[in-house]
Amino acid sequence: AAVYPFFGAHQSGIVTPAQDRLHFASFDVGDITRDELVELLQDWSAAAALMTAGDPVGVYGAVSGPYDAPPDDTGEALGLPAAGLTITIGFGPTLFTSADGADRFGIAGRRPAALADLPHFPADALVETFTGGDLCIQACSDDPQVAVHAIRNLSRIAFGRASIRWSQLGFGRTSSTTTAQLTPRNLFGFKDGTANIKAEETAVVDEQVWAAASDAAADALGDAAWMAGGSYLVARKIRMTIETWDRTSLREQEAIVGRTKGEGAPFSGGTEFSEPDFAATGRGGAPLIATDAHVRLAHPDQNAGTKMLRRGYNFVDGNDDLGRLNAGLFFICYQRDPRTQFVPIQMNLAKNDAMNEYLRHVGSGVFAVPPGASEGGFVGETLF
Ligand code: HEM
Repeated sequence: AAVYPFFGAHQSGIVTPAQDRLHFASFDVGDITRDELVELLQDWSAAAALMTAGDPVGVYGAVSGPYDAPPDDTGEALGLPAAGLTITIGFGPTLFTSADGADRFGIAGRRPAALADLPHFPADALVETFTGGDLCIQACSDDPQVAVHAIRNLSRIAFGRASIRWSQLGFGRTSSTTTAQLTPRNLFGFKDGTANIKAEETAVVDEQVWAAASDAAADALGDAAWMAGGSYLVARKIRMTIETWDRTSLREQEAIVGRTKGEGAPFSGGTEFSEPDFAATGRGGAPLIATDAHVRLAHPDQNAGTKMLRRGYNFVDGNDDLGRLNAGLFFICYQRDPRTQFVPIQMNLAKNDAMNEYLRHVGSGVFAVPPGASEGGFVGETLF
């Protein structure tokens, strides 16, 4: 089973081959001091280093501590391997500047310009209880119990300092992030992740995913060099009205995506990994890939050449009282600057995408994901 290092130049869980399961949590920080915030990040990093190595948290783990004290580790991952666990920590806009404009931790001046609040997109139906947060943790693993154990123990460690604002379980990665992985499918039944950025494309990853020191120099707010080697995470909880989708013809479904459902090939021809030809026309001169098809509107050709590394997961959170599945895509993407990547692409999609009829964006978050911690250090050490 895979084991990924916690310490390193970049945080794991970004270009790491996408694992099967997700537990994502957004946290609000309580009324604590800057020093207490730094201690929290140190405690989280130390625990994350243990858990990603497959070890229990704390000095004594789950069953070796004092008999009359609660155990350091909650215990449900005892005997389980790390199962490719990665723990990725991010900082939301409100960590730097709280809603009332206060600079709680003396870092307002170091908020990167790239960590701008997301604009309101047409048809956004955001629910307060799935939106925002001061901190986030993305835990990914091939074993759902291991991912849940990680978030549970990190939120337990945060007790009195930060508490969960909202969280999301996900299954069935909807992206491949390496060329060795088969493309999985989302809940519309289509292959998802075909045209994603892959870890092997290191020049593209450097250009589109990692923040660089030179970005900070061009940063109106000045002092964001601490983000070099980090990335920006955008999360969107997207409800998919799958019952309506399931009553739609195959012809319509494929036209909306712009790819075939079986093979995942672009409508302009070829196989899954053939480049789409957006100029190709069919009978009567109509474009083979419709002008409102998802892949046309999301493609770099329509978006000034920008891409994102997508790393989302399917979710089914039970059902509503009409018996419809509360299902969708927990969309996660990583990029160098959301202002030139996620935001314009999503603006384009929100205005024109034929898929919108079957989608509702209900949750949202944007987070600065700092570079990886040095051996024995902590995530955020370049900021504090
Ligand atoms: C491509 C589905 C939301 C950006 C695709 C593909 C599918 C798909 C089936 C084609 C296969 C692939 O290349 O991965 C969905 C569904 C969504 C959703 C079901 C919502 C529930 C989004 C959002 C964004 C986005 C919110 C970004 C704002 C992209 C991009 C591509 C893509 C950049 C690759 C386009 C290309 O270069 O060919 N999506 N998507 N998608 N999607 Fe989405």
